[in-house]
Amino acid sequence: MENTQVQALLEEMTIEEKIGQLGQLSADFFPNGQATITGPMQAQHMDLDTLYRSGSVLGISGAKQVRAIQADFLAHNRLHIPLLFMADVVHGYKTIFPIPLGMAASFDPEIVKNASAVAASESAAGGIHVTFAPMVDLVRDPRWGRVMESTGEDTYLNTVLAAASVQGFQGEDPLDEEHIAACVKHFAAYGAPEAGREYNTVDISEWRFREQYLPSYAAAIKAQALLVMTSFNTLFGVPATANQHLMRDILREELDFSGVLISDWDAIGELINHGVAGDLDHASDLALKAGVDIDMMSFAYSRYLKRAATLDAETKRLIDESVLRILELKNTLGLFEDPYRNISIERETATELSPAHLVDAQHAAEESIVLLKNAGQILPLQPGTSVFLTGPLSESNDLLGSWSWQGKSTPDNTIAAALGQRCEVKSVPGVGYHALNEKQLKVALGGAHHYDTVIACLGIPSSESGEATSMTDIRLPEEQMTLLRALAADGKRIISIVIAGRPLDLSEVDAVSDAVVFGWFPGSRGAEAIARILTGEVEPSGRLPMSFPRSVGQVPIYYNQYNTGRPLTHTPNDAENKYLSKYIDEENTPLYPFGYGLGYAQVTLQSLTIENTEMSSQKPMVAHVRLENSSNRDGRAVVQLYLHQKIGETVRPVKRLIAFEKVAVGAGETADLLFSVTEDSLRYMHTDLTNTADAGEYELLAGLSSDATQAVGFTFTNGLKEKSDD
Ligand code: GLC
Repeated sequence: MENTQVQALLEEMTIEEKIGQLGQLSADFFPNGQATITGPMQAQHMDLDTLYRSGSVLGISGAKQVRAIQADFLAHNRLHIPLLFMADVVHGYKTIFPIPLGMAASFDPEIVKNASAVAASESAAGGIHVTFAPMVDLVRDPRWGRVMESTGEDTYLNTVLAAASVQGFQGEDPLDEEHIAACVKHFAAYGAPEAGREYNTVDISEWRFREQYLPSYAAAIKAQALLVMTSFNTLFGVPATANQHLMRDILREELDFSGVLISDWDAIGELINHGVAGDLDHASDLALKAGVDIDMMSFAYSRYLKRAATLDAETKRLIDESVLRILELKNTLGLFEDPYRNISIERETATELSPAHLVDAQHAAEESIVLLKNAGQILPLQPGTSVFLTGPLSESNDLLGSWSWQGKSTPDNTIAAALGQRCEVKSVPGVGYHALNEKQLKVALGGAHHYDTVIACLGIPSSESGEATSMTDIRLPEEQMTLLRALAADGKRIISIVIAGRPLDLSEVDAVSDAVVFGWFPGSRGAEAIARILTGEVEPSGRLPMSFPRSVGQVPIYYNQYNTGRPLTHTPNDAENKYLSKYIDEENTPLYPFGYGLGYAQVTLQSLTIENTEMSSQKPMVAHVRLENSSNRDGRAVVQLYLHQKIGETVRPVKRLIAFEKVAVGAGETADLLFSVTEDSLRYMHTDLTNTADAGEYELLAGLSSDATQAVGFTFTNGLKEKSDD
């Protein structure tokens, strides 16, 4: 439909029909709508006239079901304006990929892009038009359960993966029937709740927000994300859903976002709880003025805007503005020409859990799994080894993780089944996730006694990951630690496999295990991927996108911290000097740092050299990195390039990631990588909130982890003059 026709349609609509477009309902309001509910439900009566004026529905899919609801809806909608079908297709639809935090550990944008593309092709055939993904909230606090949905603690990694995910979901422009619109979320800074407590206050400076949190949303919008979702939290003292500075000045003006802004579930209604709205009428006014186009499940718009619109021309104008954006989205998706264009029972059958998709999901898992410890090269297991498995994850197929909606983990998706294809496996779980039965424990320990090496399969259930799962204690459950301690006491060599959706405090696990493998929630073919890593069929190549603390007391902990005025000197003096930025009961460093991960091959970073010690806006810095694989097996590495600015107008991180590349290095070979560093990589947030690069002295650091880096100095000769030169 031409834009003029969309405008004409808007003009044909009554005020009731316009306000209807602004409402999003869960599918259970519709005839035969078996919905997946992802938020608090309120008892709501919805008369049929209002229902058949709705604009969109969430939480339902399936070619037959969606077609039926759409057909019934269009038969009752005066202007035949089709419904938009939206859902949380986050890390897969039927074929489930590793959780996003796991895929971030692949450090491979192509993995993320392909996972989104596969999810789009499967869900589009099942009738979905829009996914509430990618979630690009920067996170630094593993107490918050939704870290599993993010891509971690680093701004640069988040921007790269945010863009990749949007490109995967939406494909090329114009969006075809095998792709879906991306809704980037949660705008903004939902990943920084105080104390890691779900839905809690976010209070960070605009300087920090713009430097560290905003870039990933900006990258998704630059990649043409068609929708943005508001976040539940406050920011700069105002709930995001009513925050005109955030939504009008920053999102609409600065980021030039002209797409659809949807509230999170009942976020408009919750403005009352926040204490900025007296009632739903007031809340609907605040949200509309902030530019929220779609009201997800608060019913504020449908119940209050009509009166406001008749009273106030500005409200009517704002309603028209929002309705036009929604109609334009439906037009972009081709729904006016064919409301059923993406629905296909044939493609649904052909794509869902297809062999090719399962291969992709398994590959993504293999690229995401992180080898955290491997003392004495106890791994990889030699083929045919007889192994004893224990722990709740030995026979559990709970490997899909939260936000895996339509995914179903097959019964054979267990570590015992997958490893049993390669080794002689005896498996006795011994304990549950949180359950300890002395008799079962005794059987497990009795069985383990006959083996010198034991594989402990430990972890957290997916029900304790994702939304509304904040935890104050991020260690493994005591029941599992009882099992692990008993195995250690029996002198076993222990390989610990940990499945979870967040960094855990693995200090004690690390202390008693010879090897530690972190599997995240690895998805539909996760067990197979874990088995292939354990037996060395696949080289471990995952690297941590988020720091693993030694203790929850260190949180928030992240690699790109500021130096402070009393930094550690990393000399013996640190122990004597009381007045330093440190703890008296714990180290400052994480147990495992950002970017860290081991392989079986011995790949080291041999050298970092730069072609020019001076760079300028016109003359980028060219850096060369050489790797060497001194072992007799093919290796993998994630080369990480960090930047440190010696003097800034605002404090500068001790280092921050500006580039990375994942490479293969053949047995006994070297690999040479080249990086080009431009002025853009040097830009940072100044006190006047401009994002510019200063002339001055810098260090380039290259490493295979954020804590091991070779450094070389260089000068950037043109940008803002250094203050000291004044
Ligand atoms: C939830 C989540 C959001 C999700 C939405 C719809 O409350 O916060 O991420 O997309 O509701 O399910």
